[in-house]
Parts: sequence; structure tokens; C-alpha cells
Amino acid sequence: MIKPLTRHSSRRDFLTGVGALAGVSLLPLAGCAKSDKVRVGFMLPYTGTYAQLGIAIENGFRLALAGQGGKLGGREVEYFKVDDESNPAKATDNANKIITRDKVDVVVGTVHSGVAMGLIKVARETGSLVLIPNAGANAATGELCSPNVFRTSFSNWQPTHPLGKVMVGNGHKKAVFITWKYAAGEEALASFAEGYRAAGGSIVKELFVPFPNVEFQALLTEIAALQPDAVACFFAGGGAVKFVKDYAAAGLKQKIPLYGSGFLTEGVLDAQGEAAEGVMTTLHYADSLDNARNAAFRSAYRDAYGTDADVYAVQGYDTGLLLIQALEKTGGDITDREAVIAAMEGAVIDSPRGQWTMSKAHNPVQDFYLRRVENGDNKVIGVAWSALEDPARGCSM
Ligand code: PHB
Repeated sequence: MIKPLTRHSSRRDFLTGVGALAGVSLLPLAGCAKSDKVRVGFMLPYTGTYAQLGIAIENGFRLALAGQGGKLGGREVEYFKVDDESNPAKATDNANKIITRDKVDVVVGTVHSGVAMGLIKVARETGSLVLIPNAGANAATGELCSPNVFRTSFSNWQPTHPLGKVMVGNGHKKAVFITWKYAAGEEALASFAEGYRAAGGSIVKELFVPFPNVEFQALLTEIAALQPDAVACFFAGGGAVKFVKDYAAAGLKQKIPLYGSGFLTEGVLDAQGEAAEGVMTTLHYADSLDNARNAAFRSAYRDAYGTDADVYAVQGYDTGLLLIQALEKTGGDITDREAVIAAMEGAVIDSPRGQWTMSKAHNPVQDFYLRRVENGDNKVIGVAWSALEDPARGCSM
């Protein structure tokens, strides 16, 4: 049994665990030889609206390594942690803490696109190896792409790219898009707009809520008055629970079909309950994907943590698989930067989401599934777009 991380234990672990100790007694002197252990730093949200996402990512990563006796390339692993609170204002400081103070060999971070931008800035200055297990900021594998930065999740361009075609195919030609006003939502909207307009749809109104606010009432009233054919959105974590419940409670669910990028219904279906039934989304994963790797992964995750896996757990798991593959190739040497990067660039990940490869810009090339919530599950309707590759605009790697 892997020690489960829960919302309650995570903060305590963060304050009293290896991460906190590292800042005090385990701090290596600058320039000194590093310990034999591979130093892995989690820069993730452990508090706030994305706390559960950070926890699932760490759980998934640890589960992948558990398959190797907890090791990477035959070497023990030492973990360091920083709670980035999904707060972009603290991102550079937090990145510096984990990279410069804790001297990790690799950072696994983060969830929030704005925070990722701060982390990438520090990664580009220091050359540190960074694996992004969620944050979709397009620039990370676009104009700010960098040899030492890899993403194991998606770009914000990807999940909503197939959505417009699906909606027009269902006869919904006039839509409202509603989202939090920050990079992830804005980029999800821009990509949705591209695909929706190309398919013959038009966006009648774009509505925004500041992140991480969940006061939706006034905007739901506006949607009711606008009477679009459908609503599309980006919300995730705690905000997604509130939005889906408020949408149903406002009486909109029966009248105006709700669509979104699949984060809307990931890891939150129990909390959303009846309100989520019928919601249609596109995403690179679904609980019910019928492949052997997914079945084994979901059962091992449940055994280890006593809770069900979701897309964030998968992304954490795949981040572990990527590192395992790379360090197997280098015999555990993470300091052989060129070899590590080459191995990651050539990686083929046999994932619970289906097999995926790394694009030249270091972002997954992967299938996107159309899902509909049925009886409390994200049921797979089909593949909405196969082997979708982010355009990597501005990346010249
Ligand atoms: C992001 O900020 O990039 C982000 C956060 C949560 C998600 C997806 C994207 O579920």
C-alpha cells in the first residue's frame, strides 16, 4: 500500500515531510556533489481549487515508480515538495525554492498555466529539467519551447479543438463560451473558436469569471436570456463542481446542452451527481477506456489510494513512465542531459489513455475522446480526433 495522499494529509506532509526538512537539514551546499539519490521535486497545488489535481498527479507519479520498487534507473528517489497554491504571483519564488534551494534533478510541475509560466522562466534561466504534468499554457511547447521542458499532459489548444465540430454535428450552431479569465480558459476558448467557426458555428457571447471565483449566478441569467443552442466551457476542480451544479439548479440543463473540455467532469462526478448527467466533453482520457493498461492502472490506483483515478492521476503516472524510460536508457544517470533529453524525445508511452508519442516541441501527440456522462461515468462515445498534435506556434526547436 502506498501512503495515500488526501486533501487533509497533504498539507501536513508538506509541512513536516521530506520537502520541509530538505530546506533545513538536507540542503546540499552549492557546487557539492549530489547524493546518490535522484532528487525529484513536486511543484504542485496542494491547497485551493486545484488541490485534488495536484494530489492525483503526485499519487499517479508515485504509482508508476512503485512498479520499479520506487526507483528510477535503479537509483533511490528523494522527494521534495512545494505547494504552489495555483498562485502565479508566487510562481517564480516557488520555482526558485525547489530548483535552487532543494537542487532537484527534475521538477514535476505544475497544474495552473499562469504558475507554469513562472516555472518555465526559471527553467529557461537555470536549464533545469522540468516535466509539466498538467498545465496547458500553449507557450510552454510553443514560443517558449525549450530542450529541457517536456509536457506529459496536453496544450490548452488540444482538448477544445475537436469540440466545435462535435457541437455543429449535433446541430448546435450558436454557442456561448464561459470560462475563468486566465490563460487556460482564454486559450481553450481561442482553440474552440477556431474549430467551431471552421465547422460553421458562431459564438454569440464570451463570458468570463475571474479565477478562482465561483459566483456564476449573474452570468447564468445572461445565458438564459441569450438562448444559445448550446454552452461550451472550461472549468476544472472545485470550480467545475460548482459550475455544473449551478447550471442545473438555474434550470438551464434541460434547455441548453452543456459541453466542455473534459476537465469539467474529471475527478468530480461524485460531487456533481445528477447535475452532470448528459454533459458532453472532449479529453485525452476517460475512466472507461477499454484497454488492458487502463484496467490494470485503475485497479492498482484504487488499491494504493482507496480512490478512483482520473486524468490528472494518469498524467502523473505517465510523467513517471517517461522518467523511467529515460533513466533506463542512461543507466540511472540523470546528469547526462543530452541522453535524457534524447530518450524523452523518442519516448513512446504505453499509457492508460492509449499510446502516445512526444512531438518535436515536447508535447503529447494523442487521441481525444468524445465522452458523455451516463450514470455517474464519463462514457466514451468515440474518438473525436486521433493523434492530435498541437501546432506548436512559435516553437523553433
Ligand atoms: C491550466 O491552468 O492549464 C489547467 C488547469 C486545470 C485543468 C486544465 C488546465 O484541468
